Amino acid sequence: MSWTIGIADAIHESGRRWLEDRGARVLVEDAALKDPAQLDALIVRSRTKVTRDFLSRMPNLKVVGRAGVGVDNIDLEAARARGVIVVNAPQATTEAVAEHTIALLFAVARSIPQADASMKQGRWEKKRFMGIELAGRTLGLIGIGRIGAAVARRARGLGMQVVAYDPYLNPEAIRERGAEPMASLEDLYARADVVSVHVPLTEETRGLVGRDAFARMKEGVILLCTARGGVVDEEALLEALESGRVYGAGLDVFAQEPPGATPLVTHPRVVATPHVAAQTREAQARVALDIAQEVWAALTGGELRWRVV
Ligand code: MLT
Repeated sequence: MSWTIGIADAIHESGRRWLEDRGARVLVEDAALKDPAQLDALIVRSRTKVTRDFLSRMPNLKVVGRAGVGVDNIDLEAARARGVIVVNAPQATTEAVAEHTIALLFAVARSIPQADASMKQGRWEKKRFMGIELAGRTLGLIGIGRIGAAVARRARGLGMQVVAYDPYLNPEAIRERGAEPMASLEDLYARADVVSVHVPLTEETRGLVGRDAFARMKEGVILLCTARGGVVDEEALLEALESGRVYGAGLDVFAQEPPGATPLVTHPRVVATPHVAAQTREAQARVALDIAQEVWAALTGGELRWRVV
């Protein structure tokens, strides 16, 4: 049986090659979206929105593969109702996202992008770039799944204390992942000098870090988010930056992407990157292969490692 598989968003060529080697007909980007009715499987990243309407235009579809972790761009209910399997590839990008989180932390704590921009204008502003040290400070993780745990490992190596709140894990599991468990977000906000968000965007987490959360955080906290736009309330964050409650923020994800040059993105104490935390050569090669294999398993009745629906 020859399957037609659409890869709607650019992924590393390792995935396409693996599928073609097994005899699949693979249509990439525009070719995949031109005539979706012919697709047996669809692979996306975050750009393509797999809505109920889009699903209804793919009567042959058996599986949607998300080349990455977040499935908030896929209507899971509609997929379930249609009997379409949804799989993702949650392991491949863990180290890349954790590294980017730590990169943003240093960038904010030491104003590295601002200092670099100043040097490129021929300036030498030593006094302006007084930073803060991370050693001895406390990192508070909202969510300690794969990525949160990988960030915790790195933060401990930097001499930071790590606390975490995760209602889906028991205290022992949180300790095993290298963090002191917090009974509530309020407890975490009271302890953390740096708050880093590592939860998916769901109805439960939308706007989770809002005005009330910022009011409970320490004065001068650093906020990091490499998880999903929409978990942090961007208006509330801007207010907290302006009031000085938040020292600085490192953001890789936004409620609307691309956000454009919004007051938040252009704020002098915000370091913003265009949703690139998972964007390393190694992670993208791994994720493409993982999702190709998972989609193939779904089509051929193989064992699924990462079934979402
Ligand atoms: C993910 O969910 O895997 C990351 O945000 C990266 C991406 O969207 O491609």
